[in-house]
Amino acid sequence: MIRPRFPRATELAHAWVGDRLRGRVGMRAVDATAGNGHDTEFLARGVGPEGRVFAYDVQAEALETTRRRLEAAGLLERVGLRLASHEELGEAGAIDIAMFNLGYCPGGDKHLVTRTDSTLRALEAATAGLNPGGLVTVVCYPGHPGGGEEADAVVAWTRRLDARRFRAMHCSMLLAQGEAAPFLVGIERFGPTLKRAARSAAVR
Ligand SMILES: C[S@@+](CC[C@H](N)C(=O)[O-])C[C@H]1O[C@@H](n2cnc3c(N)ncnc32)[C@H](O)[C@@H]1O
Repeated sequence: MIRPRFPRATELAHAWVGDRLRGRVGMRAVDATAGNGHDTEFLARGVGPEGRVFAYDVQAEALETTRRRLEAAGLLERVGLRLASHEELGEAGAIDIAMFNLGYCPGGDKHLVTRTDSTLRALEAATAGLNPGGLVTVVCYPGHPGGGEEADAVVAWTRRLDARRFRAMHCSMLLAQGEAAPFLVGIERFGPTLKRAARSAAVR
């Protein structure tokens, strides 16, 4: 039997971000939740030698795992590692990409989860610094304690963004076994092409 296989929310986030980075030089990206460093490594490869990545985590162990992963891949010099909450990510300045992978670090301390208030403040900072054409991805985990409230808050917050400057997409499973499946929110800021499309739609 062929097993149907939709992409996971994390895989979908990588596909969207990879598409945004492809063929562009000198992009600036933020990994708002470094964890085990998979997303940071993905971003460091994607931005290329002239790009820059800033990776945040509140757990020293997570940042150390990320640092080792980057060093082994020869990508460490493209990345600034920050032992700080992602609420501080405004210090990265103008950015093209921000990836949020909420929840707790697999294999780490499950009590050190992302929290609704700081997640929303970090999303404010990420969208405030987002260049035209830029993209924010948020993988939400409604299945763990507190995750449902945070996931709902992310969706509600996203809906309140200014639709003249941003577009957003919500990708979730309609039918799945077990606990509430993770889902992906994507937020893009209008670039010149999108802006033109919005203007011509308005005159029609
Ligand atoms: C699901 S894991 C991230 C997985 C990671 N992106 C990867 O590729 O392995 C979530 C991470 O968010 C971190 N975290 C929790 N609160 C945070 C905050 N306020 N600022 C930054 N990171 C935070 C946790 O310590 C944990 O490592």
